[in-house]
Amino acid sequence: MRILLFTGKGGVGKSTVAAATAALTAAAGHRTLVLSTDAAHSLADAYGVTVGREPEQVAPDLFVHQVDAQRRFEESWAEIQGYLLSVLEVAGVDPVAAEELTVIPGAEEVLALLELRLHALSDEWDVVVVDCAPTAETLRLLALPEALGWYMSRVLPVERRVVKALRPVLSRAAGVPMPEDDVFGAVERLHAELDEVRGLLAGPEAGIRLVLTPEQVVLAEARRSLTTLSLFGYRVDGVVVNRVFPDDGADPWRAGWVRAQAEVLAEVHDSFADLPVWRSEFRPSEPVGLEALLEVGRDVYDGVDPVDVRRRPEPVRVTRTSDGAVLRLRLPFVTRADVDLGRDGDELVVTVGPYRRLLTLPSGLARRRVIGARVDDGELQVRFAGDADPTRAKGEQ
Ligand SMILES: Nc1ncnc2c1ncn2[C@@H]1O[C@H](COP(=O)(O)OP(=O)(O)OP(=O)(O)O)[C@@H](O)[C@H]1O
Ligand SMILES: [Mg+2]
Repeated sequence: MRILLFTGKGGVGKSTVAAATAALTAAAGHRTLVLSTDAAHSLADAYGVTVGREPEQVAPDLFVHQVDAQRRFEESWAEIQGYLLSVLEVAGVDPVAAEELTVIPGAEEVLALLELRLHALSDEWDVVVVDCAPTAETLRLLALPEALGWYMSRVLPVERRVVKALRPVLSRAAGVPMPEDDVFGAVERLHAELDEVRGLLAGPEAGIRLVLTPEQVVLAEARRSLTTLSLFGYRVDGVVVNRVFPDDGADPWRAGWVRAQAEVLAEVHDSFADLPVWRSEFRPSEPVGLEALLEVGRDVYDGVDPVDVRRRPEPVRVTRTSDGAVLRLRLPFVTRADVDLGRDGDELVVTVGPYRRLLTLPSGLARRRVIGARVDDGELQVRFAGDADPTRAKGEQ
C-alpha cells in the first residue's frame, strides 16, 4: 500500500491536489482512498459531493473518507480524559475549565490519523492519499510516541505496578484519585497505535508531498517544512507548485505576475534540486468535480504515475568508518550553527530552531561516545567513537 500525504501552508491547494492525485490513481485502476482529517469538508467540496463518516465511493476505485475527528478524539481519549477530569475536580477546578485543560491542542488531528492505521490493516487499498492540516505540526506531534518511547517502555510499567499496589493508601494520603489500571491500558494502547501510524507515515511506502504557490513567503515556509519533516524522519518525495499563471496572451497585470512567479519558480527548483517539482496552472475557475480534478492531476504529473515516484531513502543512516561510525540525518537548508546536539542516555537529542527530536540510537551506537558533529550539504553527520564507553552504562543519563 502506497501512502501519499499532502501538506503545505493554508490555502495553497492541498485538498485540491490531494483530490486530483487520488482521481488520477483511481483512474489508473489503483484502489484509492482519500482520507481527510480536516474538520472543514473541503475534500467533499472538491469532488462536489456530500460524504458521511464512513468511506464513500465517488468514482470507480475511488473512495473518500472524511474522518470525524471529534468522534475519534472522544473514543481514544475518553478514558484518559476521564481520569484527568477526576483529578482536576478534586483540585477544585471548574468543570468547564477542566474540560478545556484536558484537551491537547492539535491532538484531534493526530488522533484522526489513527484511522490510517485501520485502513492499512484492512488491506483494502492500493493507495491512500492523505489531505493533511495546514502545516507540518501534525506530523511533528506524531513524533511524540518516539519521544515518549523511553518513558513508555521503562517508567510506565513500573508506575503501573506501583500504583496498583499502593492505590488505596496513596488515594487516601494524597487526596487525589489514583489512575485505575484501565487508564494505564488506554495510555499504552494509544501510544502503540500512534507509533504504528508514525511508522506508516515515515515508512518506505510513504511519500510526503509539499504543496506551495510561487510566492516568496510560501516558499520560505515550504523550505522550513522540509527541514522539520526531515528532522522527524519523514520522506518528502516531491513538491507541487500550484496556481502558476500561464504566460500566454498576457496583459500587463498578468505579465507582472508571470515575471514575479518565474523568479520564485527558479528558486523553487534551486531549493528542491534533488526532488521532482511538479506544476499546476492557475485555472480560470475553481477545480470542482471529478473531471476538473482529473485535469488538474494530469497537469501536475504530466505523464508521470503519481504512485511510481522514486522512493526516498531512510532519512537516518549509520555508516561504519575505520575509527568508529557516523550517523547521518538529512537536514536540508541548515548550517551547523542552527543545530544543537545533546545526549540523553541512548537517545540523541537534535534541536533545530523550535523543533526537537529525540532520536533513539541503534543499539550499536547507544553506548558509544559522540566525538564530533558537522553539517555538510544539508546533512548532519554525527561521529561516534569506535569502542563502547565503559563509563556509559546502558540507560545512564
Ligand atoms: N490550480 C488552481 N486553480 C484555480 N483554483 C484553485 C487551484 N488550486 C486550488 N484552487 C482553489 O483554491 C481554493 C483553496 O484550495 P484548497 O482548498 O485545495 O486549499 P488547501 O490548501 O486545502 O486549503 P486549507 O489550508 O484551507 O485546507 C479552493 O477554492 C480551490 O478550488
Ligand atoms: Mg484543505
